[in-house]
Order: sequence, then structure tokens, then C-alpha cells
Amino acid sequence: MKPHLSLFGRRPLHDPHAEAAHAYDAVGQDYRDYADGEAHDLFAFDGRYSFADREIWSRIDASLIRLLSTGQRTLHILDAGCGPGTWLLRVIHRARELGFGAITARGFDISAEMIALAQAAAPRARGAGVKLRFEVADLADALDDDEAHAYDIVLCLYGVLNHLILAEREAAAASLARVAGGDLFVTVRTVGSRPTIYVANIESARSFKQDNRSERLDVDLLDGRHLSFCSHLFTADELLRLFTGHLEERELVGLDMFHGRFTPDPRWNPATADDLLGEGLVRLEHLCNHDPAFMDHAAHVLLHAAPRRGEEG
Ligand SMILES: C[S@@+](CC[C@H](N)C(=O)[O-])C[C@H]1O[C@@H](n2cnc3c(N)ncnc32)[C@H](O)[C@@H]1O
Repeated sequence: MKPHLSLFGRRPLHDPHAEAAHAYDAVGQDYRDYADGEAHDLFAFDGRYSFADREIWSRIDASLIRLLSTGQRTLHILDAGCGPGTWLLRVIHRARELGFGAITARGFDISAEMIALAQAAAPRARGAGVKLRFEVADLADALDDDEAHAYDIVLCLYGVLNHLILAEREAAAASLARVAGGDLFVTVRTVGSRPTIYVANIESARSFKQDNRSERLDVDLLDGRHLSFCSHLFTADELLRLFTGHLEERELVGLDMFHGRFTPDPRWNPATADDLLGEGLVRLEHLCNHDPAFMDHAAHVLLHAAPRRGEEG
């Protein structure tokens, strides 16, 4: 991992690695509550992005079932930029339920606080046949020692690639693609998405400013702390181009074009549940989620890719 000085030390100005680590270290558990919901139930899907979570999960689940149908009973999984580890724990839990007998899982993240949360949650997934490792590492070099096609499933979900500067995005995509022996699932924030501060609920910011030219997000939190880090917003096509030199596209899909826009604002609308609206939104999402006119306006875009047929590990 590239060396960086921590939290309040003498950080070099605009070291994107140190800044990303600092931002997620600073919020710690608030990120997990925001991203995964406060219930901390692996499959509650009640976080802010629960619709997108369910869409991602249905595809990962299908991928596990496909592997199983080929007779495979061992599984190697990678989660790059795993945050608090929730996605990796979900996959392990489900893989055990499906009957995979030997599961090797590796999650890494540049934030030591995220990895501490993941390690604290890890006992939920341990069991016979499971080897699980969470570690602090930087996508810039974390995969250098892995063999090509080492993993059956590779995840790199939500804002990880948004935090990499231009010069690093291609190398990161190439190394993720190199170690993918099977399905790769990557999601990023899009250029037309609604505002986010990534690290916590947007209501915990007093103010924030995204500068698309310098690819930086500056956030003033309500508690007075200031965070500043790389935030590059992607077009769907750009995400696709990053990976399709290496892998074959299976699906490019927008996640949450409408749910986020219809979410009641606690400062304005009474937050009443409306089942009819909820069902309508799901129909609308599924109608438009592959439409290029809408994809760049989704909260996230998901690329599902895999080695070209005949090149699998
Ligand atoms: C929005 S969070 C997503 C976390 C997790 N994938 C999830 O879906 O909950 C983005 C994560 O990317 C991590 N990250 C940013 N730059 C990284 C890098 N160069 N190497 C590894 N992790 C990185 C951050 O520390 C943070 O945990």
C-alpha cells in the first residue's frame, strides 16, 4: 500500500489516497449506518440506496447460482474498496446457504476505520470452509501479487472508482479485470446523479461543493469538520470503455433513476409510505434502466462484465 500520513497528521496537499482514507476514517460507523441501514441486518436492504442494493444483489445472487449449476463448489471472492464489509459478508452467507463448501474471501479498503468495522463484523460469516481476510490496502497496488483470473467473483461497488484520479482509473480497471476469473460487478456515481457526499447522509452536511473540473468534492459537516476528496462523476459509456478493452460486457444498467428523486425531504414532505408509488417506481426503473437517455441520470451505473468466453480462469 502507498504510504500516507493519517487523520490529522501532515498530509501532503491533494494526495487523493490519503484524502479518501481520511474522509472515511473520519465518519467511521456513520458510513455503515448510512450505506447499509441502522439495523445492520445483512439482508434488510433498508439503507438509503436499498433499491440499488437489491438490484445489485439479485445479479450477484444469480451469478452464484450460475456457478453452482456448473458443478463448482469452491468460491474465491474479492471485494475491492469493501468499506465496512457488508457486501462480502452477504456473498459468503449466501454461498454457504447454497452449498459452496470452500469459500476464500478477501476484502480490502484504504480506510483503516472501514476495515476495523469489517473485521468486527467478520465473525458473522466465519464457519467451516470459510477463509475470510479484511485488510487495509490501496487499489493502486493491492492486486499486484494476485494471479490472473484468481477470483470467481470480483466486486468494486459504489464510490470506490469515483475517488480515483484520471491517471489511476485505467490502471485500476486493468488490474480488477486481470484478476477476474468470472463475473465482475462495478458500480459508480454518475454525472447526472443527485448530489451526494458519499461518506454520510447528505443531511449531515452544512454545505458541500462538487467541482467537476478539478474533480473534487468539498464538504462542511454540521459538526464543523471539513472534508475534501477526489470525486469524479462517470458517464455510463465511460465506465464501459474503462473495462471493455479487457472484459466482455454482460450488462450496463442504471440503478435508481427515480427512487432518489421521489424520496420525501424531511424538511418539506411528510415521510409517508406509499405502496402504490413504490410499485410504480420499480416498474419505471425497470422500463428505463438500460436506456442510454436515462442511465447517466441514475444514482449509480452498474457494469457486469466477465472474461471473454474461452478466457475464463
Ligand atoms: C462509498 S464507499 C463504498 C464501500 C463499499 N464498497 C460499499 O459498497 O459499501 C467507497 C470506499 O472506497 C474506499 N476507497 C477509496 N479509494 C480507495 C483506494 N484507492 N483503494 C481502496 N479503497 C479505496 C473508501 O475508503 C470507501 O470505503
